[in-house]
Amino acid sequence: MNSEFRFIPYRQPEMSEDERIERAEDFYLLMNRRRSIREFSGKEVDRKLIELAVRTAGTAPSGANKQPWRYIIVSDPDLKREIRSAAEKEEKENYERRMPKEWLDDLKQFGTDWHKDFIETAPFVVVVFRIDYMNDDGSVKKHYYVNESVGISVGIFIAALQNMGLVTLTHTPSPMNFLSKILKRPSNERAFLLMPVGYPADEASVPEIKRKSPDEIMEFL
Ligand SMILES: Cc1cc2nc3c(=O)[nH]c(=O)nc-3n(C[C@H](O)[C@H](O)[C@H](O)COP(=O)(O)O)c2cc1C
Repeated sequence: MNSEFRFIPYRQPEMSEDERIERAEDFYLLMNRRRSIREFSGKEVDRKLIELAVRTAGTAPSGANKQPWRYIIVSDPDLKREIRSAAEKEEKENYERRMPKEWLDDLKQFGTDWHKDFIETAPFVVVVFRIDYMNDDGSVKKHYYVNESVGISVGIFIAALQNMGLVTLTHTPSPMNFLSKILKRPSNERAFLLMPVGYPADEASVPEIKRKSPDEIMEFL
């Protein structure tokens, strides 16, 4: 290839069709067991697991390979308390004033309200930031498809957690600018999601929801 940039060979490991199907089914079953958990046990999580989940998230594709994500991992009890209190302030306002009736009706099945105990109970609170641009040599370099890229990265993060038997919740206590303040993030970073990570509480339960059927989510042409 005639290029001033280096290319390296790429191969996937060989496997039989049967093996592919077995692996695909196993992965589907693993992911189909995933649920958003809102009740956490205080049981400690090995920090190495979180590091591996974030490293896995960091393998995501991204617009022009800008990798516009940053995972801030909070375990300090005082910081978690501060985040919970600020999140609950926003969520109280959301539930009592900002959300329209239609939205509140949609949320009824999840039994959620403005209380966010899980921010303190979960051993780790992972706050994902999107990096909109970088300041290089005094100039601003914009990133591309930041939302899509960070969304894909978080999807891989969630899959990695599921694979190691941990649970999480994608939480959006909006507006989320309080997270930039509390976590002292630079102005090119914006909070994207807040994710408590840990083990489910012994008495944890989840709303009985239905996933769309294959026909509803795909069409081969
Ligand atoms: C972008 C996004 C934002 C969400 N925000 C919240 C949230 O703020 N609070 C909450 O309790 N659940 C939140 N959820 C979780 C959804 O309610 C949940 O994923 C959905 O009901 C499907 O349930 P499952 O994750 O158990 O399959 C969010 C999910 C996504 C993907």
